[in-house]
Amino acid sequence: VINMSELDLAGKRVLIREDLNVPVKDGAVTSDARIRASLPTIQAAVAAGAKVMVMSHLGRPIEGEYAEEFSLLPVVKYLQDNTDLTVRLEKDYLAGVEVNAGEVVVLENVRFNKGEKKDDETLAKQYAALCDVYVMDAFGTAHRAQASTHGVGVHAPIACAGPLLAGELAALGKALNNPQRPLVAIVGGSKVSTKLTVLDALSKIADQLVVGGGISNTFVAARGNNVGLSLYEKDLIPEAQRLMEALDIPETVDVRTGKNFSDQEPAVIKAANEVQDDEEIMDYGPKTAENVAAILRNAKTILWNGPCGVFEFDNFSKGTEVVARAIAESDAFSIAGGGDTLAAIDKWGLEDQISYISTGGGAFLEFVEGKVLPAVAMLEARAAK
Ligand code: 3PG
Repeated sequence: VINMSELDLAGKRVLIREDLNVPVKDGAVTSDARIRASLPTIQAAVAAGAKVMVMSHLGRPIEGEYAEEFSLLPVVKYLQDNTDLTVRLEKDYLAGVEVNAGEVVVLENVRFNKGEKKDDETLAKQYAALCDVYVMDAFGTAHRAQASTHGVGVHAPIACAGPLLAGELAALGKALNNPQRPLVAIVGGSKVSTKLTVLDALSKIADQLVVGGGISNTFVAARGNNVGLSLYEKDLIPEAQRLMEALDIPETVDVRTGKNFSDQEPAVIKAANEVQDDEEIMDYGPKTAENVAAILRNAKTILWNGPCGVFEFDNFSKGTEVVARAIAESDAFSIAGGGDTLAAIDKWGLEDQISYISTGGGAFLEFVEGKVLPAVAMLEARAAK
């Protein structure tokens, strides 16, 4: 694909699609990771003398309707308060936008436009008409074939990849194609069902697969243990057994349990085969966490998605903390992705010690599954012409 850095942007109208889909509370951005990751691209375009427009979605509004809670205004305020950029929000842009040199115009949530999600051609052409160069930089939304991520790139005079997207593809490619071994993949989160395809894909390429969180509870049950009130998926026990036969998956030998799902609940440590009917597994026990940490210390490449317990509750955060610290301390090339995973890394301030932090959630998983990301396929097709 063509990279933005190869193009002369001086005086050009440049439309950059970022993934600025960040959490917002009471009108303020609560996690700025995706904004910070997008900034170098925006700043580079401004420095190159482009007339810069930035577009993104935020949340999942009813399409075609303006709703204040999904406005990009908090993101614009963040940029005004935290950067040297001159930024304004434009609500009405489909018929054309005036951009002054040195200014960044953020186009209001693309999902307020009818046809955005179904990649409507008329809308895509309207976006394309705004610019001389379209820059696809939203790795986190590259798995969506929508008008602002895909169709616009088909119709724009020039379509290229931004440095964030290119960097994500390079880092993930490094971990997945020809990785330094052992490659250890650690997949947590609540459900096997939502991660089954990624677990399957990783079982073929990883040397070891570690499971955590609610996912690990299904594996605990698959080993014949009572899991009491724990979050687990009975229907997926055969899948868990199949994965355990295909690959070495370290056993969750001990757990932290509680009787109430609450941040006040004290954690009780017990062997995985001693969980009672009125108890819920909410974290690894210390032995399991230490076993997993030892595996991670030995790894040369690590892929991490999903927390290992209810890390939002301090009493049940230890397993995730031990894992996060082991990854941070390891010399391996480590990649972490997914919203909860990033929140966990943030909780212990370990950002700088992970080799690469992906801005993708769903896109990260689909890339790991080996799926073609439609926005990337579009850029490849444009570059081939
Ligand atoms: C994400 O947060 O994973 C991306 O921004 C995509 O959002 P979506 O799932 O609403 O398309």
